[in-house]
Amino acid sequence: MGSAVSGQTAPTGYSLLQIILHWAIAALVLVQLLLNEPMQEAFDDRLDGEVSDAMVGAVVHVVVGLAVLGLAVVRVAVRLTRGAPPAHEDKPAIINWIGFATHSLLYLFIFAMPITGAVAWFGGVELSAILHEVGRLILVPLIGMHVLGALAEHFVFHNDGLIRMFRPR
Ligand code: HEM
Ligand code: HEM
Repeated sequence: MGSAVSGQTAPTGYSLLQIILHWAIAALVLVQLLLNEPMQEAFDDRLDGEVSDAMVGAVVHVVVGLAVLGLAVVRVAVRLTRGAPPAHEDKPAIINWIGFATHSLLYLFIFAMPITGAVAWFGGVELSAILHEVGRLILVPLIGMHVLGALAEHFVFHNDGLIRMFRPR
């Protein structure tokens, strides 16, 4: 609680806002990865110039996806002003480097997915739809690695790396 005054040093944990943003974005991204078939159908119909009967599902995909983008903007602003706790130094440096790279790419994807999707949908740009699809192919294994990393912090390295994304400090 006392960290608000010191802006100089890295915080010892994530704030409640950071934790809420992490889990809200994670949940919405999972929804997008699981529920996108109506969007694919509506997009195909649209390119064919047909009226789609999958529009409700498509609108849900657009709204949830744009919510991710809005939350991502807030999240990065909070990350840049408040910072984040440092990685634990209890393992080979390469593992922390992989964690840093994974986090950076996840940040990139919570912007890149909504933006490529929006350009495809609102601009009718097929190339952007292809980038959006390729994005999924990279994002899914990335999330898999991220979850495995979080579980490893807890069960292999026995540190609070997982717990601190639940407990504000
Ligand atoms: C975090 C945000 C998002 C994620 C994770 C996501 C994920 C996905 C996935 C997994 C697909 C299926 C791709 C495939 O065919 O293999 C898809 C399709 C699509 N999404 Fe998104 N999406 C997001 C945001 C958006 C937004 C904001 C829009 C539009 C405003 C959008 C528009 C589309 C369109 C047009 C398709 C169909 C593309 C096609 O079938 O070629 N997406 N999305
Ligand atoms: C069930 C799924 C998930 C679990 C268990 C999980 C767990 C965690 C944990 C424990 C941390 C803190 C790591 C640390 O500080 O040492 C973290 C950070 C992070 N997570 Fe996740 N996460 C999940 C899903 C996601 C998803 C879907 C995304 C984005 C698409 C994401 C993006 C991030 C980012 C960018 C960070 C770095 C935060 C920072 O330090 O600025 N996570 N996650």
